Amino acid sequence: MKATAMAHTNIALIKYWGKRDETLFLPMNSSLSITLDKFYTTTTVEFCTHLYEDVFILNGSLTNEAETQKVTRFLNIVRKMSGKELFAIVKSNNKVPTAAGFASSASGYAALAAASTKAIGLDIDNRTLSKIARLGSGSACRSIYGGFVEWQKGEEEDGSDSFAKPIIAHDSWDISILSVLITANQKKVLSREGMKRVVETSPFYSSWPIEAEKDLIIAKKAIQERDFDELGRVTEANALKMHATTLGANPPFLYWQSATIDVIQKVQELRSIGLHAYFTIDAGPNVKIICLPQDEQAVKESLHSLPAIRDVYSSRIGPGVQLLA
Ligand code: DP6
Repeated sequence: MKATAMAHTNIALIKYWGKRDETLFLPMNSSLSITLDKFYTTTTVEFCTHLYEDVFILNGSLTNEAETQKVTRFLNIVRKMSGKELFAIVKSNNKVPTAAGFASSASGYAALAAASTKAIGLDIDNRTLSKIARLGSGSACRSIYGGFVEWQKGEEEDGSDSFAKPIIAHDSWDISILSVLITANQKKVLSREGMKRVVETSPFYSSWPIEAEKDLIIAKKAIQERDFDELGRVTEANALKMHATTLGANPPFLYWQSATIDVIQKVQELRSIGLHAYFTIDAGPNVKIICLPQDEQAVKESLHSLPAIRDVYSSRIGPGVQLLA
């Protein structure tokens, strides 16, 4: 009753921002992401008859009760599905740059979903796996697939039609993704809390789901036509609209630091000299840049000239979840 799975992180080009159901992790809007090849989580789950609680070892260390509780909450779903009341030892390793603050719940829950369902003997397809991963963290449902992935929000109250699906094969369009490290400090407003606050209090939120759906249509067309600049433009615009909602929240908040703006301006400057580069920003100050592989080196070099940049990590498009054993 043991299995190991590996899942890669993903970066949303059209953001998931706001839930219509917090228990089932049902989003207000559909979203679109790319799976990265460099950052991933490998997780081994072993269900044992002699355990009386779950044990969670992350990067070689036993985790605290709060972290273990999150895993237990998730494993309870898998236990319920299988009808087996067994506890597990979960060993998880995050392959992300040390202390880079890029650790993602997306790869973590995608790997945990795949390893735990396999270990407990459930035979499920990727669509079902995507729905299960979603119950750990919304963005995890997209990490089941490689390449360009859409999470369709669905309409059903039980979440049965809220899952991710691939848009094009993961090796059919070569794009470079640069993760720009500004700070590895813990973010002040976690994405879960931030999206809840904007849904409940931001007067700018009501236009977000409408805009996101429009942006999604543009992004999908750009991907089908392999129109990188069109995809880049809508990616940037969508990220800015997401961050605009935070300014109207009560209390208001802003994920950016001054260096975030330095990177935004640098990317705009690079475009004015003919490079194909566009930024996106999640619930924190670090910036991700998508660019054409031919421009990657020039973009990287120009970023290193900014004093507040601590590091830049390059990735390409990565694969979906894999069972290793
Ligand atoms: C800004 O998936 O981390 O990165 O579902 O509450 O676990 P929960 O949130 P999470 O939110 C990700 C938000 C985002 C945008 C995105 O990845 O689409």
